[in-house]
Amino acid sequence: MNTLFLLAALLTPPPERLAPDASCLADGCHAETRAFPLIHAPIEKGQCRDCHPQQGDRHAFTEVPPNETCAKCHESVTAGPVVHSATDKCLDCHTAHGSANAGLLIVPATALCQECHEPDEYVKDRPKVHEAVTKGECLTCHEPHAGSIPKLLRAEGPALCKSCHEERVAEVLAAKTGHSPAKDDCTRCHDPHASKQGALLHKPQMELCLECHDKAIEASDGRTVASLAAQLEGRKRRHGPVDEGKCAECHSPHGSPNFRLLKLAYPPAFYAPGVEESFALCFDCHDAELLTEEHTEETKFRDGDKNLHFVHVNRGARGRTCRACHSPHASDSLVHVRETTPFGTWGLPVGFTPTKSGGGCSPGCHVKRDYDRGGGGAGTSDSDDDDEEDDE
Ligand code: HEC
Ligand code: HEC
Ligand code: HEC
Ligand code: HEC
Ligand code: HEC
Ligand code: HEC
Ligand code: HEC
Ligand code: HEC
Ligand code: HEC
Ligand code: HEC
Ligand code: HEC
Repeated sequence: MNTLFLLAALLTPPPERLAPDASCLADGCHAETRAFPLIHAPIEKGQCRDCHPQQGDRHAFTEVPPNETCAKCHESVTAGPVVHSATDKCLDCHTAHGSANAGLLIVPATALCQECHEPDEYVKDRPKVHEAVTKGECLTCHEPHAGSIPKLLRAEGPALCKSCHEERVAEVLAAKTGHSPAKDDCTRCHDPHASKQGALLHKPQMELCLECHDKAIEASDGRTVASLAAQLEGRKRRHGPVDEGKCAECHSPHGSPNFRLLKLAYPPAFYAPGVEESFALCFDCHDAELLTEEHTEETKFRDGDKNLHFVHVNRGARGRTCRACHSPHASDSLVHVRETTPFGTWGLPVGFTPTKSGGGCSPGCHVKRDYDRGGGGAGTSDSDDDDEEDDE
């Protein structure tokens, strides 16, 4: 075996001589190294020997580890505290001479990462996949080689999402009522790749909100935002959308022009003009006629056909807002009438007692009054104004 090999070597002529300055591309030789739509600059310039060091004056070339070769001209790509484990194997992703794919990639950029990263790694059993991922736009968020942010991310906070969600990010940052988690980091609530929930949320909405709102929170401006868990705990009934866990039906988690991140208008104070537009939030789901018509049968809060919503709310600047009587999240009563009304820093009792055809209230604002829908009117005052002075 050895002898045979030696014999063969002796019989093989040494590589022919090649002038050190000879062009490898002369006479159509090695045309294949340039037969690509996109050609690597040194090949374009015929600098073959930068990567293929010649052995003496022969047509023989030393094999050089490609990474070292590439580093001669591209050292900077591996710089950074966070380095992709794959980076030192340039030819796992790039071709040396040329390619049909931008960036001299072995496959199109949108298919590259999946050569090594199985979707299982970043999608797992989460069926709702971010379109940025289904389209293979990994490189919008990740550096391919190295960087300064963990997980090879190109940016931190909302800036990471900005290239595709520019308007949303601008809204979040400029919102009159802001929400700090959205300003800090979109991925606090959203998974960047995939989710089991709609809108790529990490968890069902209510669970997500309660991760922070299970206690009172001090806002950046010093206010205290009440604990939502405390408002829900022990209550017999939750308001429809709260019961379904849909906080975003009323709140915009990204920021809003309205107070308390409300999606639509709702007065921030105890008193406000009782016009329909002020309560757009409630009338997004409820019929505004319960407020606007002085006489109607469209509300159960009436005495005969006299609309007691109109009486209480629709009275100029002194109109009581819905919060005087209703709790937006949960309460013990059927119609979400609260036990105490938040008046200034006090909680005035409401003392609501429903009956079959009406009800009664003995609030801190006026003496006990009853109402009855069934015709006659049960002991309700015929004056709309006599409680004016009591409610300061
Ligand atoms: C940027 C570095 C670099 C330059 C410049 C370069 N090559 Fe290469 N070449 C390589 C690498 C790396 C390989 C090995 C390819 C692989 O393993 O996929 C290679 C392989 C080859 C091969 C072996 C067959 C093949 O294609 O795999 C030939 C022939 C070749 N090069 C010729 C040339 C010629 C001719 C030039 C100049 C026009 C040239 N090379 C310029 C890096 C280079
Ligand atoms: C002799 C210097 C030299 C060597 C060695 C070299 N390159 Fe390059 N490379 C260049 C130049 C010059 C450019 C074009 C200018 C630029 O973008 O920096 C370039 C561009 C590139 C690009 C960008 C192409 C594009 O279209 O965006 C990639 C990718 C690349 N080189 C990969 C490699 C890899 C992989 C190796 C090792 C196999 C390597 N280079 C070795 C000089 C070199
Ligand atoms: C995991 C795959 C991968 C590996 C490994 C890799 N690259 Fe890249 N490289 C890319 C991608 C993706 C791009 C971006 C292409 C684009 O944006 O079109 C790129 C771009 C480049 C560019 C041009 C733009 C720039 O960032 O300067 C150079 C040069 C380059 N790579 C060199 C190298 C060298 C040298 C190595 C080995 C040390 C290497 N790459 C290893 C994926 C890789
Ligand atoms: C040649 C194989 C290969 C390719 C192609 C590749 N990767 Fe990787 N990547 C790896 C390996 C190996 C690791 C380390 C694995 C681990 O830690 O579990 C890794 C880790 C990562 C990590 C985690 C880094 C960290 O700090 O935890 C990210 C993010 C990543 N790759 C993104 C990408 C993206 C984006 C692409 C496409 C540009 C890509 N990879 C292409 C092999 C590859
Ligand atoms: C919208 C931005 C975005 C896009 C697009 C994106 N990623 Fe990520 N990726 C992230 C963020 C943020 C993290 C770190 C937090 C996390 O894992 O949820 C991450 C983490 C990773 C990790 C590390 C996982 C781990 O547990 O350590 C890998 C691997 C990865 N991404 C691969 C990919 C691949 C492959 C693609 C394209 C198919 C891709 N990413 C597209 C933002 C993105
Ligand atoms: C490469 C572009 C790209 C980047 C970067 C990107 N997205 Fe997306 N995202 C899309 C596209 C495309 C859609 C689908 C169309 C739409 O809803 O705008 C989408 C949809 C979404 C959706 C709605 C999903 C649904 O099922 O309703 C959320 C939530 C989302 N992105 C969050 C993010 C977050 C958070 C980031 C930053 C970590 C981010 N995106 C970065 C392209 C991107
Ligand atoms: C506090 C949690 C939270 C944060 C932080 C957050 N979001 Fe959302 N996002 C949500 C919820 C909840 C929904 C679903 C809204 C719905 O169903 O009406 C959503 C929906 C979305 C949607 C798709 C539906 C729509 O409204 O267009 C996009 C896109 C989106 N968010 C982008 C972002 C971006 C970008 C950031 C960072 C600037 C961000 N989100 C930060 C909770 C959050
Ligand atoms: C990561 C913690 C966190 C999560 C998750 C979170 N919030 Fe908040 N939220 C805060 C903080 C902190 C404040 C105090 C105001 C501020 O600093 O932005 C706040 C304030 C609020 C306010 C009062 C706004 C004001 O200015 O009075 C509402 C309403 C609110 N959040 C609703 C939600 C809803 C709905 C969700 C779920 C979609 C949610 N939050 C998820 C941290 C969180
Ligand atoms: C039907 C609409 C509606 C729904 C659904 C809703 N909220 Fe509210 N939320 C409000 C209103 C209205 C206020 C303002 C209360 C006030 O000032 O009278 C508010 C206030 C808040 C506040 C500020 C603390 C406070 O009570 O003053 C937080 C936090 C909050 N909501 C979180 C949530 C969370 C989390 C969910 C989902 C579990 C949710 N909300 C569902 C209407 C709603
Ligand atoms: C996203 C839709 C939605 C919004 C916005 C909304 N509600 Fe409701 N509301 C419901 C649903 C659904 C019910 C029926 C289930 C229940 O009794 O909670 C309901 C029931 C009620 C009830 C009890 C009705 C009854 O017949 O028992 C009252 C009172 C009420 N809402 C007041 C309000 C007030 C005040 C607002 C504004 C702060 C408001 N709602 C905003 C959906 C909404
Ligand atoms: C003075 C207390 C009070 C105020 C202020 C008030 N409500 Fe009511 N509301 C009630 C009472 C009491 C009922 C229950 C009537 C019954 O079932 O006997 C009720 C019933 C309702 C109902 C159930 C449907 C109906 O009309 O019977 C809705 C919806 C409602 N209110 C919404 C609102 C909205 C929206 C506002 C603010 C614009 C508001 N309420 C202001 C006391 C009030």
